[in-house]
Amino acid sequence: MPVLLGGIMIGGLFILFFGGGSNTDDPSQSPVLANVIVPELSEVARRGEELFNLNCSACHGKNAGGTDNGPALVHDIYNPGHHPDQAFVRAAITGVRAHHWGFGNMPPIDGITQQEVLLIARYIRELQQANGIATLPHEM
Ligand code: HEC
Repeated sequence: MPVLLGGIMIGGLFILFFGGGSNTDDPSQSPVLANVIVPELSEVARRGEELFNLNCSACHGKNAGGTDNGPALVHDIYNPGHHPDQAFVRAAITGVRAHHWGFGNMPPIDGITQQEVLLIARYIRELQQANGIATLPHEM
């Protein structure tokens, strides 16, 4: 009987620590947004979307809504006031040391160019704007 109880308790702890892949109660992880509003994208943003899906979505998720490996970029922290387009370029070319969340570091993205990241940034801005995140006019 004690063994059984112990088993149940350990099972419970396991669920506490490892349960629910996208745990929105954990402040170290950004929430995974399942229903990002996708607007009618501009031509430029559509090219950015393709590049994003190839290079970034594995961690930043479908429609930049986040995954267990990286934060949603459709998030107010990444508005252009906090993270201008140059922050996107820097992130992709030199990588990012974990500082906002508990996902770990972002590695530099092999072979990506500044021009490509600017297309991706345009895509992210159009998503942000459609989802109620303030984007400055001069960033669009
Ligand atoms: C292997 C996973 C991974 C990939 C691939 C990835 N990222 Fe990231 N990225 C992260 C993580 C994790 C963070 C959060 C680091 C932190 O602040 O804790 C991050 C943060 C960022 C940030 C915020 C930088 C800052 O200054 O705080 C930007 C912008 C960004 N990523 C853009 C991109 C773009 C654009 C791509 C594709 C070209 C990309 N990421 C690909 C994991 C990834």
